[in-house]
Amino acid sequence: KPAPAAAPDRLPFSRITEEDLAFFRNILPGRVVTDPDLLESNNEDWLKSVRGSSEVLLRPQTSQEVSQILKYCNSRNLAVNPQGGNTGLVGGSVPVYDEIILSTALMNHIRSFDSISGILTCQAGCVLEDLSLYLEQRDHIMPLDLGAKGSCHIGGNVATNAGGLRLLRYGSLHGTVLGLEVVLADGQVLDCLATLRKDNTGYDLKQLFIGSEGTLGVITAASILCPRKPKSVNVAFLGCETFEQLLKTFQLCRGMLGEILSAYEFLDSECMRLLNTHLKLTNPVHCQFYIVIETSGSEPTHDEEKLHNFLEEAMTSSLVSEGTVATEDSKIKALWSLRERVTEALAHDGYTYKYDVSLPVEELYQLVTDMRERVGGRAKSVVGYGHVGDGNLHLNITSQAKDPALLADIEPFVYEWTAKHRGSISAEHGLGLKKRNYIYYSKPSQAVALMGQIKALLDPKGILNPYKTLPDDQKP
Ligand code: FAD
Ligand code: MLT
Ligand code: ZN
Repeated sequence: KPAPAAAPDRLPFSRITEEDLAFFRNILPGRVVTDPDLLESNNEDWLKSVRGSSEVLLRPQTSQEVSQILKYCNSRNLAVNPQGGNTGLVGGSVPVYDEIILSTALMNHIRSFDSISGILTCQAGCVLEDLSLYLEQRDHIMPLDLGAKGSCHIGGNVATNAGGLRLLRYGSLHGTVLGLEVVLADGQVLDCLATLRKDNTGYDLKQLFIGSEGTLGVITAASILCPRKPKSVNVAFLGCETFEQLLKTFQLCRGMLGEILSAYEFLDSECMRLLNTHLKLTNPVHCQFYIVIETSGSEPTHDEEKLHNFLEEAMTSSLVSEGTVATEDSKIKALWSLRERVTEALAHDGYTYKYDVSLPVEELYQLVTDMRERVGGRAKSVVGYGHVGDGNLHLNITSQAKDPALLADIEPFVYEWTAKHRGSISAEHGLGLKKRNYIYYSKPSQAVALMGQIKALLDPKGILNPYKTLPDDQKP
């Protein structure tokens, strides 16, 4: 059985010297940060749950600069932690020890957008929300959207294979990323930045880097297939009393809304309590379970009629007890924020134990109920929310401060429960530092061993994001 996910010992990488700093200052004039105060936020993750002690942050602007950095680090055996917006939730985005932080913050240039095909090509450090605004002015949208959009980078999104709120409609980044440019550990620039919908010439190498969490290469640019901006968007915020009703409503909704359904998300009443308490957001309705349904289509009258018919059916069949609908932008945003800001409300509640699992949809909420029963009053809050349409539950538990006894109650129980129900222990956040040693709950050892061989091939010295993603028994 896997070992608990404690920090491993520091591997024998070189320590940074004055000569190393001189080299970096020469290739990145004014873009080498060594001031400990400035480095603080890059050393700590968004959840404030893990902290490294890196002494240097590099801010390249071009792929060539990234290539020079990695070539040098590889020859000197210096470990590197690629970092985007530092919104990752599994401890993958910050160093564990003194790894050099390689930030994509200054690589934020949009290279091209083709309005006929909808293909966007940009550098890895473009902030997701900036890309969305850029595309909206050109009648398109990004195929992904998440609560961290104001900070996360597209390179970070690709590196984590982020799912988010629109996956139900537009699919995962494995489908919408058409090409990638990646700098390998030895500094080689791998140009797989195709902008083609179809390309079956050999192995699709870019797929390896989608979800590789900075362990196989540094993504420097991406080309992405972007949908047209829908002409009509509606959001319904509904309440129901049981999770069974929520699932029946999903079934009804898939049937009656069909092609215009673009999101089916949920949160429970405990999430709502935290939104009320910590963010002063008010409920539009009062129930045990809340559903956010979004429709996106091309004909407002047609979409509104479909939504109206669905809501009438859901209400008359008593699946849904209460609800409200928004068609104008500001109300749509307000309703969405009730779902998007749960993560933030949890951060205010206390130390957060965060689980992100895929499960057969009928069993999705049982894990929350079982966990509540198991940890009883020892936890401050036990909440469930997530992407029902994708079979993805976010189970979060909070306590006043980090509590090892509570953690021992939660893990490995949560992983055993998930494996027993044939789920995945990481649906969309990745494994990072925190979950790497639990990979065997979701993947056979033969598959993990092959991952180790791929890592050894692409990064033989293991300088790229060491201590992350792969379990400790698979490090080069
Ligand atoms: P970071 O956090 O900086 O890095 C994440 C990982 O990617 C690290 O392992 C890092 O080393 C690696 N990495 C970053 N950039 C590169 C690069 N250019 N090349 C190679 N490796 C790189 N995730 C979801 O899937 N769905 C959600 O709905 C969602 N919602 C969120 C909401 C909030 C409020 C927050 C705080 C997080 C949320 N996340 C979600 C998690 C997180 O935002 C995503 O994982 C996001 O994609 C990370 O992007 P980032 O730029 O912040 O990357
Ligand atoms: C979400 O769906 O809100 C994100 O994945 C973040 C989280 O799990 O808290
Ligand atoms: Zn999520």
